[in-house]
Amino acid sequence: MNLFEKIPEAGSLVDLDALPKHVAIIMDGNGRWAKARSLPRMMGHRAGVERLHDIVAATSDLGIPVLTVYAFSAENWSRPIDEVGGLMKLLVEYLGKELEGLVKNGVRITFLGSMKGLSDAVVAAMEKAGNSTEMNSKTVLNLAFNYGGRQSIAQAAKKLAVLVGEGKLDPNAIDETLFAQTLNINSLPDPDVVIRTSGEYRLSNFLPYETAYSELIFTNTYWPDFDERCYLRTLAEYQKRDRRFGGL
Ligand code: FPP
Repeated sequence: MNLFEKIPEAGSLVDLDALPKHVAIIMDGNGRWAKARSLPRMMGHRAGVERLHDIVAATSDLGIPVLTVYAFSAENWSRPIDEVGGLMKLLVEYLGKELEGLVKNGVRITFLGSMKGLSDAVVAAMEKAGNSTEMNSKTVLNLAFNYGGRQSIAQAAKKLAVLVGEGKLDPNAIDETLFAQTLNINSLPDPDVVIRTSGEYRLSNFLPYETAYSELIFTNTYWPDFDERCYLRTLAEYQKRDRRFGGL
């Protein structure tokens, strides 16, 4: 069911003409959601995948061009091995199950992060999803998986240093634009807004360079409870912000 069938008043809850072009979400609180229900943590992640499904569909229905979600951070490797394996399996399952619907809804999947340490099965699922949705242009679902912001900045610095070392780049040509292009979060615009669920107030190494001028919105709702109405409310809050980008 389309967002506007599910929530007929959606168009009066947000200004459909002033939506952000890029929404980024830190999907936090799956573990606490599960704990509150005496369920294993993985059940929280599973419920989180269902919310991801709904929020991706809503993003596409609203015509928002880009959604970046933080699904697995470079630091998440330090979790118990069962949970790490569970999240990997969940990604493969998610990509397999959602692919047809994403293609139908014009959603293109791109990935942000390192392939290092990922199993062949995970890499194959990512490649298949990326290739099968390559032609879609309505909404980009940019999945940050095995992603770390500082790591990506260091990587970009190294790339530029190599070019300078090879005499292919004049150090004076390095500016914000070139650096951003080198970081290249899949050639996407910077996020207009970052949403973090679950009442934590930090960015946790998520897009530190790209969020320099993003609006930050924190909500106490755990990710598995973050439904389309919560999403619309958050977008409405974004629309109340006065974005000055350092100007007056
Ligand atoms: C944070 O909750 C969430 C994660 C580390 C993983 C996010 C993953 C999903 C929402 C599922 C979708 C993912 C895939 C692979 C498609 P937490 O575990 O840190 O929760 P807690 O802070 O309450 O313990």
